[in-house]
Amino acid sequence: MTCLRSVVVGCGSALPARCVTNDELAKTVETSDEWIVQRTGIRQRYLSDASETTSVLGTRAAQAALDDAGLAAADIDLVICATSTPDHTFPSTATQIQAGLGMTGGVAFDLQAVCAGFVYAVTTADKFLVTGSARRALVVGAETFSRLLDWEDRTTCVLFGDGAGAVVLEAREGEGTSADRGVLTSSLRSDGRHREKLYVDGGPGSTGTTGHLRMTGKEVFRFAVGSVTDVIDDAFRASGTNADDLDWFVPHQANRRIIEASADKLGIARDKVVLTVDRHGNTSAASIPLALDVARRDGRIKDGDLVMIEAIGGGFTWGAALIRW
Ligand code: UT7
Repeated sequence: MTCLRSVVVGCGSALPARCVTNDELAKTVETSDEWIVQRTGIRQRYLSDASETTSVLGTRAAQAALDDAGLAAADIDLVICATSTPDHTFPSTATQIQAGLGMTGGVAFDLQAVCAGFVYAVTTADKFLVTGSARRALVVGAETFSRLLDWEDRTTCVLFGDGAGAVVLEAREGEGTSADRGVLTSSLRSDGRHREKLYVDGGPGSTGTTGHLRMTGKEVFRFAVGSVTDVIDDAFRASGTNADDLDWFVPHQANRRIIEASADKLGIARDKVVLTVDRHGNTSAASIPLALDVARRDGRIKDGDLVMIEAIGGGFTWGAALIRW
């Protein structure tokens, strides 16, 4: 039976100009390249200056995705920006991206699911497209987590970086089978009981300040490896596919050890895993679209490939989406 599918027709990304190595960080924080690489796989990250705000990076990534798709801003009728680091409490970063692109129509809003934000945003855009509420969506993950970090806390400040990535999704007709191009299925979960394990200790409704990121890394690690594979199993079940059918696994890039342990648990071969945490650090909602853009531009992800994206973030929030590129 024919149906509408949300097909990826373009992809783009943007990074701040300044790249900071582990050795450079070790000059100001008590840490070492050896510790960071061994525990996380991170070798460097990009940190934004005052002019490189989330909306600026998001607009650059969105424009790159439009260029890649051969489309103009006027062809888009939905912009969703996944971010936890908006330029301002309001208006939304998505509306600033919309203005930055020169769009005057359509609808734009932010979505907040921390590191799972991009998977949530793809899932949300997919609902708009398959129901005919929109025809083409820009889905952006954009972050400046450096603004949220306590630069004296070595347990968190070495882990994160800034950046943005975007995809253009277009509603196209499919046959209703897993051979279709587009978002085949997605699965989202959240459980607010885990708040204390990963949160920001400020906000407009509590302290009136931005606050700093706080994390009990070990607890997040345990949950990420132990529980998050449920949404991937959901996606395989719903689509009638399995780990052997996957061409690429593009998980949230928080920690190389989490990624490899999850892939092993799911029976996904290591050579199908796209790893960019070494070069970007953890860019929260931006990490998956940044990784997708790297793997597409270097020729790994090709049209027709089966790609699983997956992430976990504060809340906890987590999710997975299976996409035939
Ligand atoms: O994107 C949202 C999701 N977030 C994540 O997925 C993060 C999940 N967690 C992790 O990736 C890991 O738990 C970390 C990388 C954060 C930490 O790795 P770990 O193997 O769990 O280390 P640990 O927290 O148990 O710390 C081990 C030691 C401690 O010293 P003692 O108590 O054993 O003497 C820390 O004080 O490493 C010390 N340490 C550091 N040493 C050098 C912590 N941070 C640093 C550092 N440099 N930056």
